[in-house]
Amino acid sequence: MSASPRKKQTKMLERALSARRSASHSDEGDEEEDVDESKTRKSSLSLLTRLSNHFFFCHRLNYLPWPLCLTLSLLFLFLIFSLFIHSHRALVSVSPFDYHSRLNIFGHEPLESDFGSLGVPWCRSKHGQTVPWTDKDLLKGLEEFIPIYETRPIKNNMYGMGFDHSFGLWFIARWLKPDLMIESGAFKGHSTWVLRQANPETRILSLTPRHPEKYLKKGPAYVDGNCTYFAGKEFVDFGSVDWKRVMKNHGITDRSQVLIFFDDHQNELKRLKQALKAGFRHLVFEDNYDTGTGDHYSLRQICDQFYIRGGGHCCFKDSDEARMRAKRRKFWDKAVDVHELCGPGDAWWGVRGYMRDNFNHSNEPITYEQHFRNSRFVESVLEVYWELPPVAGPSLTHQTRYDPARAVPPIIEDGRFGLFKRLNLTRFDRSVFNGYTQMVYVQISEPGS
Ligand SMILES: C[S@@+](CC[C@H](N)C(=O)[O-])C[C@H]1O[C@@H](n2cnc3c(N)ncnc32)[C@H](O)[C@@H]1O
Repeated sequence: MSASPRKKQTKMLERALSARRSASHSDEGDEEEDVDESKTRKSSLSLLTRLSNHFFFCHRLNYLPWPLCLTLSLLFLFLIFSLFIHSHRALVSVSPFDYHSRLNIFGHEPLESDFGSLGVPWCRSKHGQTVPWTDKDLLKGLEEFIPIYETRPIKNNMYGMGFDHSFGLWFIARWLKPDLMIESGAFKGHSTWVLRQANPETRILSLTPRHPEKYLKKGPAYVDGNCTYFAGKEFVDFGSVDWKRVMKNHGITDRSQVLIFFDDHQNELKRLKQALKAGFRHLVFEDNYDTGTGDHYSLRQICDQFYIRGGGHCCFKDSDEARMRAKRRKFWDKAVDVHELCGPGDAWWGVRGYMRDNFNHSNEPITYEQHFRNSRFVESVLEVYWELPPVAGPSLTHQTRYDPARAVPPIIEDGRFGLFKRLNLTRFDRSVFNGYTQMVYVQISEPGS
């Protein structure tokens, strides 16, 4: 009794092995191979028949051939399944105040950019060069910066930089280790403080109409002891500074070793030309506004062009873009729908076809041809264009302002709550994450070089 099942098992094993061998190499007779194959075929056929017969009506409709029955049954099952999924989705209430709903509203994975063919515009650099730092460096830097940020003197920096851009500026300034740091637009001095944290010994030069010390009378502000202020009566606009004299006074012989930080809400094309003329190479623009938004013409707007993948726009009211924008507008405060995006004559570039400047005090209409020429100029001077990623995904930071589909992927992606918490980012008030506007670092050189 015990020998017989073992014999059967051995035979089964042999058959299984023989099926893997080629017929010519088989030690067993053809007959046995044929028999085994026919058995296998027969058993799989009968299994299918049995399955189909068990499905719903097949056993009742004996006149239908089993393959047709099976197909109909599978179709029926598929229909039921689709109905279930659809009704389940419809039942899930979507609130614009629920962040997971925001991310899942379009039925995609939260991490996926669901802006369709639009994606994220970017500026082409002339030699395709990129920054030397990696995602790993950014994460390491973030870990280091968080306890520093906790010691900031201005806790509520409304109208100034929040956490994301403070980190970005600190990271870039610390990485580059310039001989001099220049800022244009200091407000109460938060960005001066960030620059100081990045490089404790480096001289700062701050151009700002109102001296930060003026704010001290009303509340927290930061005045740096190793900073030359061009403020109050001494204020000079960046474009009017006698750089030869100022550089000499600060002992700077190589202007490529200077970092310029612009947070002055001026036309970035104007600032780019002024910086190039003065011989500076490393620039950071704090507010690199997306197309259709902001109070000044930005690099991102300039580079948003039809020929860039993810760039250029369509004002057609019945387009996919119009539908997608209308949906997203409900969820992200700074998202714009096509009505807001497009000005007269379907002008979408800049802000409704306007090149804004100086906190939108100046607002000049430009043609698409001018806008296109501007982008070609910018590309001709760009060595590097790097947009700072948001520090963390919106389901973690609970930011509601920028549309994540129009930004590069965050340093800490949605879903990584463990990491977000471990880094102590949960400690900060949510408002500090609500100021991301695609801060950008660029390295420039003369056209044709
Ligand atoms: C958004 S705030 C700067 C915020 C600051 N960087 C921070 O992080 O807290 C803009 C500042 O630019 C200043 N400003 C206005 N026109 C300017 C100009 N032409 N040059 C430099 N700064 C200017 C304003 O007075 C204001 O202090």
